[in-house]
Amino acid sequence: MVLSFHQAFWDVLNPNGSLVINIKDKVVDGVRHRYVWRTIEALCEQGWCAIDDYIWNKPNPMPGRWPTRLSDGWEYCFHLCKTKKPYFDHEAVKKPIGDWTESRLAKLGKNDKTRHNSVNESGFGRDLSRWVDKTKVLPPNVLTIGLVGKNMGHPAVFPIELPAFFIKLLSPKGGLVVDPFGGSGTTGVAALQLGRNCILVDNNADYFAEANRRLTDEGHITLYKPTRKKQAQRVPEQLQLVEKAETPYHANGNGVSNRNGTTLKKTKMQGKRITS
Ligand SMILES: C[S@@+](CC[C@H](N)C(=O)[O-])C[C@H]1O[C@@H](n2cnc3c(N)ncnc32)[C@H](O)[C@@H]1O
Repeated sequence: MVLSFHQAFWDVLNPNGSLVINIKDKVVDGVRHRYVWRTIEALCEQGWCAIDDYIWNKPNPMPGRWPTRLSDGWEYCFHLCKTKKPYFDHEAVKKPIGDWTESRLAKLGKNDKTRHNSVNESGFGRDLSRWVDKTKVLPPNVLTIGLVGKNMGHPAVFPIELPAFFIKLLSPKGGLVVDPFGGSGTTGVAALQLGRNCILVDNNADYFAEANRRLTDEGHITLYKPTRKKQAQRVPEQLQLVEKAETPYHANGNGVSNRNGTTLKKTKMQGKRITS
C-alpha cells in the first residue's frame, strides 16, 4: 500500500513529537475491513514507529442490532512517532491507585515481594511490594471515556477527555497541537485549556464557525479580527483566529489559509514546533 498523506505530518513533526491517529474500521460486505491495520503497517514500512495501540472504550455506544455483530463499543488511537523515544510525560496522566491497595497490599505473601515470572512463563511477572505507599499509578492503554451527546454543533464531537489525555501525555506545556480534522474544535479547546497552542483545520465552513465559537467560550481566547489599525498593533502570542473575506477555513497560529492554501496573515507563532 502506498500512502502519501503522512509525509506532511512527518515533515513538520518534532523529532520527539507524536502523531495520534483515531481511526475506526468499518464493516464492508458483512465482514470487518482491515484497512486500518493495513494503513498502520504501511506507515511503519515508510518509517513511522508504532509506539502503542490505545483502545478508546466507549461505555455508551449507539445501541443497535446487526445479524452477526454487536454494537461498536471502541475505536483505535494509534500512537506513531519518528523515533522510538518520543516526549512522554508519565506523571501528567497518573491516576489515584484506588481502594484495592488497602486490602491487597496489607498482607503481602513471599511471591508478592520479589519479581518472579508467571507460572506459565508468559513473561508477565509482578512485584506487588512496589505499590506499597504509592498513591498514584499509570493508567492502562484502554481509555474508558463516554461519548458526548448529540446537538453539539457537529455530528461527531470528541469527548474532551480523549484529546486532553494525549495532549497531556505527549506534548509539553507551550507545545503545539495540530488537528487536521478539527471539526467543532474539541482538540483545540483541550490544547488551550492545558496551556498548549493549536492549529485546527476543517474544510467545512459551519464546523469552522463552531470551532471559533468554542475556542472563544471554552478555550478562553480572544478572537482576533484584523482591521488595518489592529494589524499595526501588538498581537497576543496565542492562537489567533482571523476572520477575513473569502471565508477562510483554516485557522492556525501562523495565520489563516483560504481554500487555495494562501496564507492571509502571519503572527508571532512562527517558529513554534509541531509536538502532537
Ligand atoms: C470526525 S470529525 C472531527 C470531529 C472533532 N474531533 C470534534 O470533536 O468536533 C472529522 C472532521 O474532518 C473534516 N474533514 C473531512 N475531510 C477533510 C479534509 N479533506 N480536509 C479538512 N477537513 C476535513 C470534517 O468536516 C469533519 O468536521
